[in-house]
Amino acid sequence: MVTDGETWWNKVDGKEGKSCASCHNDAATTMKGVGARYPKWDEASKKPINIELQINKCRTEQMGAEPFEFDKGGQIGLTAYIKHQSLGMPMGIDLKAGEMQKWWDMGKETYYTRFGQLNLSCANCHEDLMGKMIRADHLSQGQTNGFPTYRLKDGNNSIHNRFRGCIRDTRAAQPKAFSDELMALEVYVAWRGTGLSVETPSVRQ
Ligand code: HEC
Ligand code: HEC
Repeated sequence: MVTDGETWWNKVDGKEGKSCASCHNDAATTMKGVGARYPKWDEASKKPINIELQINKCRTEQMGAEPFEFDKGGQIGLTAYIKHQSLGMPMGIDLKAGEMQKWWDMGKETYYTRFGQLNLSCANCHEDLMGKMIRADHLSQGQTNGFPTYRLKDGNNSIHNRFRGCIRDTRAAQPKAFSDELMALEVYVAWRGTGLSVETPSVRQ
């Protein structure tokens, strides 16, 4: 997935005839540390932005290209490629910028709210049952520092796809990828991972 991202990095696309590399050159230098700081405040949209949305922003505003649909085209590959340039660096997001604190509060509330027919919150599984087995899975703290991950059962897996999967497992309605609800959750979960090393791309069951 990282090599797929590198191919996309160098690929010319859109009306401006540019690739990511046309402006950002060598990702090893220009993208170093970037993935560890996301999601971050985006003043233009007055919302937090993650790597996937930043890529789409550059595609539409800088390249004159179509935004990638969720999990399609080069979205997972480029996200993994950018995150990989921060391999081993500690995660640390800036909650002081803009209204990030408000989004953190929203994300925290969702994290502790029980939902679905099973009436479970994120915290019920990833705090209370952490370390235990659920079906064939060993429950982790549900961190995002290894994303996008490669899952042995179904391949490349983005953060929002994973969130949706966890929510589906409680038999609740799944919020859309990049919805305010999932963006707030991404902010909060990334904050919970403060200090953990970026491990992208990690391999999972
Ligand atoms: C025409 C020049 C141009 C092109 C082409 C371009 N970008 Fe950007 N990129 C920018 C500018 C300017 C910014 C800073 C302003 C902003 O956030 O939009 C930026 C910001 C970024 C950031 C955020 C960096 C940070 O420190 O937070 C990432 C990640 C990024 N671009 C990725 C990409 C990717 C991936 C592509 C190819 C799909 C791409 N860019 C194509 C000009 C470009
Ligand atoms: C019914 C229990 C359950 C609930 C509720 C649940 N998850 Fe999970 N989650 C899992 C299992 C099982 C896995 C796969 C094993 C693991 O990594 O813990 C997982 C994995 C994850 C991962 C990937 C961790 C990694 O390192 O690959 C993230 C992130 C995550 N969950 C976030 C959440 C969030 C956010 C919520 C609330 C919206 C949530 N989960 C709710 C069971 C649950």
